[in-house]
Amino acid sequence: MKKYAVLISFGFLLFSIDQALADAARGEKFFNDVQGGNCRTCHLVDDTKLIGPGLGNLMVRHSEEWVRQFITDPQKTWETDHPETIELKKRVRATNRQFARCKKAPMTAEIENDLIEYFKTLKLDAQ
Ligand code: HEC
Repeated sequence: MKKYAVLISFGFLLFSIDQALADAARGEKFFNDVQGGNCRTCHLVDDTKLIGPGLGNLMVRHSEEWVRQFITDPQKTWETDHPETIELKKRVRATNRQFARCKKAPMTAEIENDLIEYFKTLKLDAQ
């Protein structure tokens, strides 16, 4: 029993270190890099639509939990009836679209944390 407690605490410690080391600059690089996430091909980071929505203020209109879910598996998240998914579908006028167009890149937990840190910097000024 004690062994498990130690293992669990160790896992948690690693997780916390991972979170603490999350780096917005690395996230930005992955976002823009054609060899990395290649997200920039479809997303600008202000409020302008390209192929996908502009990601300025992303963390204002979404919960962190939803964004994590979406970037690790857009298709699966697209198929849920999570209120934030319903809102996204309305916003991109895609209620009947069967497939999420957002392609996921190979995503490690580290990259995911970096991207979230980067997204947190994408705040637009209030109009
Ligand atoms: C081929 C174009 C394309 C690429 C590449 C792409 N996306 Fe998307 N993304 C979209 C589209 C289109 C949507 C709108 C929902 C849908 O149709 O999937 C979207 C939606 C999103 C949303 C929700 C936006 C909102 O306003 O609610 C996030 C977050 C997102 N993408 C992140 C990413 C990240 C991170 C990457 C890179 C790993 C990426 N996308 C790569 C096209 C793309």
